[in-house]
Amino acid sequence: MKKKAENYIINGKEFSLFMPQTEIIQIVSNLAERINYDYKDKSPTCILIMKGSVFFGADLMRLLTIDCRLESIRSSSYGNRMESSGKVNIQISDLNIKDKDILIVEDIVDSGRTLKALLVQLNALLPKSIQTVSFLSKPDKRKVNVDVKYIGKEIIPVFVIGYGLDYDEQGRHLPNLYAYV
Ligand code: IMP
Ligand code: MG
Repeated sequence: MKKKAENYIINGKEFSLFMPQTEIIQIVSNLAERINYDYKDKSPTCILIMKGSVFFGADLMRLLTIDCRLESIRSSSYGNRMESSGKVNIQISDLNIKDKDILIVEDIVDSGRTLKALLVQLNALLPKSIQTVSFLSKPDKRKVNVDVKYIGKEIIPVFVIGYGLDYDEQGRHLPNLYAYV
């Protein structure tokens, strides 16, 4: 990853500023407010989908005033490309969510395939309830119908990096979002 003025270049592709950290913080705080209200009498287990939602999940959970727990699972589908491969690889190991209120914490919903596959596998473990919070969503790229209760912001169909999101494992640590347009 190289820096060129205010932009970043990864594998020859140039990414420019898409969303500043100030807006990210505002979006996360609005989501936390809704979740705190809806779950005020519950103690949900937040399942962070690694690695993309590690920054979002950490920021969101620190704003939760309700009693909550943290779990994580790994999923991958992009590899080193900008389009979902369509094959979703999910690693759930000894996760006990039976009779629990589950909140899936995702970085971004694009085709919807990852979330759909996750919901199938997690529902099989018989949680009491299951909802999803995603920092971003690209509705124009949806290929499968999937319900996302909490969406931070809907964006145009561009590939973004930063705030946990990567391109070929690069750019996750950037505090702002950058887009390849
Ligand atoms: P989906 O299965 O097509 O909905 O893709 C969801 C997953 O692909 C997300 O959890 C991300 O890890 C990754 N992804 C989708 N869009 C982007 C993007 O714009 N930048 C980086 N990763 C993305
Ligand atoms: Mg992800």
